[in-house]
Amino acid sequence: MDKKQLIALFAEHPGVFFSGEKISAELGVSRTAVWKHIQSLKEDGYVFESSSRKGYRLVSQPERLDETLLLAQLQTRELGHPLLVLEETSSTQDAAREWAERGAPHGALVVADAQTAGRGRMGRSWHSPAGKGIYMSLVLRPDIPMQHTPQMTLLAAVALCRTFRREASVDASIKWPNDILINGRKVSGILMESSAEDERLSYIIAGFGISVNLQKEDYPDHLHDVATSLFIESGQPIQREDLIASFLQEYEKWFSVYMAEGFAPILSLWEALSSTLGRVITAYTPKGPQKGTALRLHESGALTIRTENGQEMNVFSGDIREENKTLTEKTM
Ligand code: BTN
Repeated sequence: MDKKQLIALFAEHPGVFFSGEKISAELGVSRTAVWKHIQSLKEDGYVFESSSRKGYRLVSQPERLDETLLLAQLQTRELGHPLLVLEETSSTQDAAREWAERGAPHGALVVADAQTAGRGRMGRSWHSPAGKGIYMSLVLRPDIPMQHTPQMTLLAAVALCRTFRREASVDASIKWPNDILINGRKVSGILMESSAEDERLSYIIAGFGISVNLQKEDYPDHLHDVATSLFIESGQPIQREDLIASFLQEYEKWFSVYMAEGFAPILSLWEALSSTLGRVITAYTPKGPQKGTALRLHESGALTIRTENGQEMNVFSGDIREENKTLTEKTM
């Protein structure tokens, strides 16, 4: 038996309870196998009502991204064209990278309803339950020098933050370098992976994970204190297709400003949306932890801090912890 047979059994009998015994007889598998499949379907976003007397009843299936609706909402010239919508993939980063290697143009977008091995920065994983979040990767081929690649991430963070504020009326802010927080909890993260040839940038895969309609029970325990969703914060479910279209439009707009005027206007926007500047932070750099006050964003994308001995230094990579908070960085 596979999960599809089990779903078919429930789908053919809407509203009907099936005992573990009945399912195991119908599908010719052990009751333990039935239980395991039910657990795995729950992780995939299927909701069951279970009763010790009557067994299981399928209450709802995960929402599927509607490609036609998404295409109808898209008002961009380049970003999101062409579009690949997948039901499930290991990571949209890998799907987009393979596509880029086969020649996908600037703007090509891969979106998945679920990821089985979604990844974040610094070797972390990205919690990607089906139908609840946005998991997408854009192929970007900007004509910029390699060393300006981090600016693309900061630009993306500005576009995401502005989109959340507008579409969900939430007080979203940016935590350096590219986390979007609401009320101190992470709602979205960006992963940029680039590829170069002869020291020239050939493409960037810009990955976005957005917790849209997740509810508290959709998170594993270790994320409860550090993660949140637009739904939890705004009290309203949000149509994912709308949000994707709106974000791509915002990103395309600031991307053209960047190409025409350079990084200065983006830097000002980033600083205005930042929750990091002015705070005492600890930066976990490859050379060890460094405490200081976050002063400004450097145009290289680095965070300029004043250390406890009064010196200014730029932090180029790693993570930071904003002081006066109980939050710690954990896998999300
Ligand atoms: C982070 O905050 O560490 C970055 C998270 C990026 C997650 C997204 S989800 C879509 C894309 N595919 C992945 O495997 N990761 C990115």
